[in-house]
Amino acid sequence: MSDKAVLEINGEKHEFPIVTGTENEVAIDIKTLRGVTKGVTTIDPGYKNTGSCESAITFLDGEKGILRYRGYSIEELAEKADFLEVAYLLIFGNLPTVEQLEKFHIDIKANSVVDDDIKKILDAFPKTAHPMGVLSSLTSALTAFNPSSVNIDSEEDMYNAIVKIMGKFPVLVAWTMRKKQGLPLDYGDDKLGYVENILKMMFKKPHGDYEQNPILVNALDKLLILHADHEQNCSTSTVRIVGSSHAGLFASLSAGISALWGPLHGGANQAVLEMLEKIKEDGGDTKKYMAKAKDKQDPFRLMGFGHRVYKNFDPRAKIIKVAADEVLGDLGIEDPILDIAKGLEKEALEDKYFVDRKLYPNVDFYSGIIYRGMGIPVEMFTVMFALGRLPGWIAQWREMRLRKEPIGRPRQLYIGENHRPFKSIENR
Ligand code: CMC
Repeated sequence: MSDKAVLEINGEKHEFPIVTGTENEVAIDIKTLRGVTKGVTTIDPGYKNTGSCESAITFLDGEKGILRYRGYSIEELAEKADFLEVAYLLIFGNLPTVEQLEKFHIDIKANSVVDDDIKKILDAFPKTAHPMGVLSSLTSALTAFNPSSVNIDSEEDMYNAIVKIMGKFPVLVAWTMRKKQGLPLDYGDDKLGYVENILKMMFKKPHGDYEQNPILVNALDKLLILHADHEQNCSTSTVRIVGSSHAGLFASLSAGISALWGPLHGGANQAVLEMLEKIKEDGGDTKKYMAKAKDKQDPFRLMGFGHRVYKNFDPRAKIIKVAADEVLGDLGIEDPILDIAKGLEKEALEDKYFVDRKLYPNVDFYSGIIYRGMGIPVEMFTVMFALGRLPGWIAQWREMRLRKEPIGRPRQLYIGENHRPFKSIENR
């Protein structure tokens, strides 16, 4: 392949370098476009063709259904690693040694206490508030209590900000859920593993001990790993673009949480469960909802289906589907919603509309069924996604800062009014 792309505008030819990634992905480097063409830009709504950065964190081949973190396949990581190892891998680039992992965990634990005044902020929210809004606000509020996390001048500053948020975020997640349930806000147990501690913080009852259930620990570990990174998706791009203004890690994460909340992104896991419930209550007629999803006059979409990048099976969905069967089986739960989900999937995979558009189940299609089996309320599902995505956001923010990327500032094509004289109010 040639190493240059040629663009002809008004009879003038301009050459742009072609760059190739380590997996032979090809991109045209248009950094000089506006300069050499004297003002021409590109238009790409939804950034379907635009690479916003070079990144060494996650590789995704949507046509082949491949997902790898730092070169390791998602299948192998989900089977063999735990979440904290994967977090370390994503953020720092390599799987940790025993000593490195131990130090990372000790530093996280040393930073896991949240200023008690955060409770006052949490108290001001109505119980009806959606946990994602609460989590985003509390994450942003952490900046006020940890101002040193904003001005990052060295890798040490960066590391300190990272272990702070890795320590405090699970506390905020647990408190967000407990507040909604009217339970006292408390801490877990420093002697536990990272994921075990999260479960204890979420589920410990005020009047009794919390007994760890290895099935739940394994299931949560796996779910968090599967959600940990997904290259330049909506929330990650948000974190990178907010961070590019040097706004600080916690503020960037707070913006990412807001982006994740939307039903077209992480909010889909809540939307899937609500959709499956509705189908069940409506008599379980999956065909009716398949028809609605295909009807262009009907705004209904089959939630948990389709993906901007995967035009094949989402590899995460394959793992989660098997896990859903295992976890519910191990817990002795029979959930009719799982059968409805499987029925919908079977119909969609045989349906011309879905086949033609390459719409497959995505990560969110089965995850909610597991969360529900674990006793996590529906409104908390997207919060659990955020908990898993935290190391990915951190890794992407760190990479952006270390590469000294410029502030994110897209261009536009103006299509509004040309210059017009001001009209005083009585003449309008
Ligand atoms: N149900 C019915 N039709 C669909 C669906 C769906 N879930 N998804 C896409 N389509 C159709 C869409 O109507 C369009 O049809 P046509 O070509 O006739 O106009 C075609 O498929 C392409 O869709 P698109 O909206 O242009 O694709 P996109 O890449 O912009 O959107 C998506 C991707 C994930 C937003 C979309 O598939 C969707 O809304 N899915 C449901 C929400 C969902 O499950 N989101 C979770 C994504 S995975 C978790 C995460 O990483 O956030």
